[in-house]
Amino acid sequence: MRSQYCNQVTEQFLNQPVEVCGWVDKRRDHGGVIFIDLRDHTGLLQVVVEPDNQAAFQIAEDARYEYCLRVTGTVRKRPEGQANERLASGQIEVVVDQYEVLNPAKALPFMMDEHAGEQVRLKYRYLDLRRAKMQHNIRLRSRLNHALRQHLHGQDFLDIETPILTKATPEGARDFLVPARMHPGQFYALPQSPQLFKQLLMMSGMDRYYQIARCFRDEDLRADRQPEFTQLDVEMAFVEQEDVLNLAENLIRNTFKEVLDVDLPKPFPRMTYHEAMRRYGSDKPDLRNDLELVDIADAVKDTEFKVFSAPANDANGRVAVLKVPQGGENFTRKQIDDYDPFVRRYGARGLAWIKVNDKAAGRDGLQSPIVKFLDDQALTKIIELTAADNGDLLFFGAGNYQDVSQYMGALRLKIGEDTDRISKDWQPLWVVDFPMFEWNDDEKRWDALHHPFTAPACDLASLQAAPGEALSKAYDMVLNGVELGGGSIRIHRSDMQSAVFELLAITDDQAQEKFGFLLDALDYGCPPMGGIAFGIDRMAALMCGEESIREVIAFPKTASGACPLTTAPSDIDNSQLADVHIQTILPEVDE
Ligand code: AMO
Ligand code: AMP
Repeated sequence: MRSQYCNQVTEQFLNQPVEVCGWVDKRRDHGGVIFIDLRDHTGLLQVVVEPDNQAAFQIAEDARYEYCLRVTGTVRKRPEGQANERLASGQIEVVVDQYEVLNPAKALPFMMDEHAGEQVRLKYRYLDLRRAKMQHNIRLRSRLNHALRQHLHGQDFLDIETPILTKATPEGARDFLVPARMHPGQFYALPQSPQLFKQLLMMSGMDRYYQIARCFRDEDLRADRQPEFTQLDVEMAFVEQEDVLNLAENLIRNTFKEVLDVDLPKPFPRMTYHEAMRRYGSDKPDLRNDLELVDIADAVKDTEFKVFSAPANDANGRVAVLKVPQGGENFTRKQIDDYDPFVRRYGARGLAWIKVNDKAAGRDGLQSPIVKFLDDQALTKIIELTAADNGDLLFFGAGNYQDVSQYMGALRLKIGEDTDRISKDWQPLWVVDFPMFEWNDDEKRWDALHHPFTAPACDLASLQAAPGEALSKAYDMVLNGVELGGGSIRIHRSDMQSAVFELLAITDDQAQEKFGFLLDALDYGCPPMGGIAFGIDRMAALMCGEESIREVIAFPKTASGACPLTTAPSDIDNSQLADVHIQTILPEVDE
């Protein structure tokens, strides 16, 4: 139906006939001449309908936004002063010979621009996706997938599909369930990841596997989380941690070069989990932000101020300072006070601060609501440990180690943004040496920090002797503060796997019922193996400079897990429910 795409029609075709198709982006009438900006996925083309072409003119007068057109005409140079340097087709226009409306469009339900609300954008996603920015995002994502596949094929990886209707694969979220009509009362679970299948594939001698896999997790949604999302899932047999890190790092470096022409550093820096928590209060630190936390427990151990001295003397406590260079000079009192409610949202009980006005003047040079609680020695030590200068502002977090790390880490990010301290480059990082477990105080048992199939870095006896101390062979790839991917070396022996289940308070019976097939398979010559999975939605969002992964997913769900376009999830007829042996019990609604 067409000879060229819109932005391919350039001066090269001067005085030649062309046939183009697209949508009406804009229509202007000028002194009896109709100008139409015709748009397709490549860009815009100016189409001119002159009044002496009566047949065309009559129909073109009706052109409205998003009418779908086919136009044939002749390319001519735009008049002097009318060129548009921003368009590939900006030097020319097409004078219409034949004008064909392939399909009209109703009045638009929204202005197709950045400012439209998300609900309406998602309801009319097919219109929203026609926009240049969304075209760019979805097309970039396609190139990203292609680059990832191409690299892995070059490294002898097999692309293998794994089941969607399956048994629970735990990654720490709730399962989506599907009733099994032919097995009344029984359910399939949608996979939270292909984890168990990729391990089975290594046991099956496939050696190297990858899949662009859809994963399903019924959890609270955020900007970087969807209930269904896509992983680049990778597994390799007969490897150690270093092999997986190398493969993954080369994959990501090549992909960024291929898709964005960006050179990521070689090698990526590495940091242990504990160092990341200590310096950045996060296991996915954004290294573009140069602010760091400083521990000052030593300085306040012996003070009378219990808010500080109690956690300073507690093995699970933390007293940390975030120094904001020149924050004392630049922040108003109101700005300082406003960070208090911010950290409280993350569970803080307060946010003490000290403004360093003149450090030579001792306590008189310090302005703060807490100076009166601290002795001279403590104050001197705090200034020394934080290397604070005149004009600097110190924020203090005191309490439980995890909580303080979390809210001071969040404060670090917030102040980094508020004070424009985020550099514009790409900062990848490997976080390694994660703990095996974290203590679940509600249920009085250990939880796996990665997943229950992750190998410990120590032997069985040490693991059982001190589970809280044990490190794992798990690793995360972080890019600009986003957890891009995570993986581990797997347990490949059944005695170790059983021991880990036991520590996680999974009984033998439960283990058999849930993962019996995996435990069985471990007993038939299972090779050592390891792998990683990358969040493709997150990678695409980073590459497109988008805050939300919804901007790089063709048909995403809203924050409540709904799809305004299809109106899923929706009611189901009782007869259809009966077919799958389901009766619903609705939550009680408050009158
Ligand atoms: P993990 O649970 O860390 O590991 O997931 C891997 C990566 O997937 C992305 N991701 C998500 N993206 C969008 N929405 C979500 N709800 C979501 N959850 C996770 C993240 C994350 O780093 N089986 C293991 C991998 C392995 O051990 O090989 C796994 O799934 O970018
Ligand atoms: P209070 O003794 O509660 O009046 O607190 C004195 C100062 O310490 C106030 O500025 C509080 O914001 C701050 N503060 C209280 N609890 C904490 C905490 N856990 N961490 C940091 N600062 C705190």
